[in-house]
Amino acid sequence: MTFFNKDDIINAFHYRASTRSYDGNKKIPAEDFNYILELGRLSPSSVGSEPWQFLVLQNPDLRQKIKPYCWGIPTMETSSHIVVILAKKNARYDTPYFGEIMDRRGLQGEAREKAMQVYKKFQTEDAHIADNERTLFDWASKQTYIALANMMTGAAMIGVDSCPIEGFAYQEVNQILAEAGLFDPAEWGVSVMVTFGYRDKEIRQKARKDFDEVVKFIE
Ligand SMILES: Cc1cc2nc3c(=O)[nH]c(=O)nc-3n(C[C@H](O)[C@H](O)[C@H](O)COP(=O)(O)O)c2cc1C
Repeated sequence: MTFFNKDDIINAFHYRASTRSYDGNKKIPAEDFNYILELGRLSPSSVGSEPWQFLVLQNPDLRQKIKPYCWGIPTMETSSHIVVILAKKNARYDTPYFGEIMDRRGLQGEAREKAMQVYKKFQTEDAHIADNERTLFDWASKQTYIALANMMTGAAMIGVDSCPIEGFAYQEVNQILAEAGLFDPAEWGVSVMVTFGYRDKEIRQKARKDFDEVVKFIE
């Protein structure tokens, strides 16, 4: 295993900046974009639930259709790639979806039954995830944000820019994309989107709280 130079990594974190203006003529090579998607796929998720799908929205008509509901941002047109990240709506411990998680983990027989009890307690008593459809969707959405961050950081590491898009009208965007047949709205919902491309101008330096304001060592 090769480990990476800390300076290079920190430099990539400084370089990554939410990009609101792309060079519309520059396209990310397929190999680089597949690498970015792979970082999403490899991301960790609670209990290995992987409650996501990554829709690469290249269709110009659909981009135009959702644009008014994404604060009308021009990057809906100029980004090289847009990923709509879907989150699973009903990943309850007692659904076939959870059965698939346990299959992937190779859990059978008694071990499977034990794991099921742990997931049940976690979702019902500890974290109250299974309370309703919204809490289940929000739990899945949390996981998708990990994939989102990994894709954006990994993109910055190869000089690709990005911007997360949470500012959109959920009902309208979900309706447009579901009616286009991209997903079953009973099973999936849009969690967050992210644009990728190449910045066409300098971006102002980061504003961040000081280290000591956000980090506390408890000894
Ligand atoms: C989950 C999430 C959602 C965001 N949604 C939007 C958005 O809809 N539109 C936008 O222009 N920026 C969006 N941003 C970008 C933030 O405004 C930005 O990350 C923050 O101001 C810090 O700047 P930086 O990303 O350049 O370091 C979002 C960021 C995150 C993490």
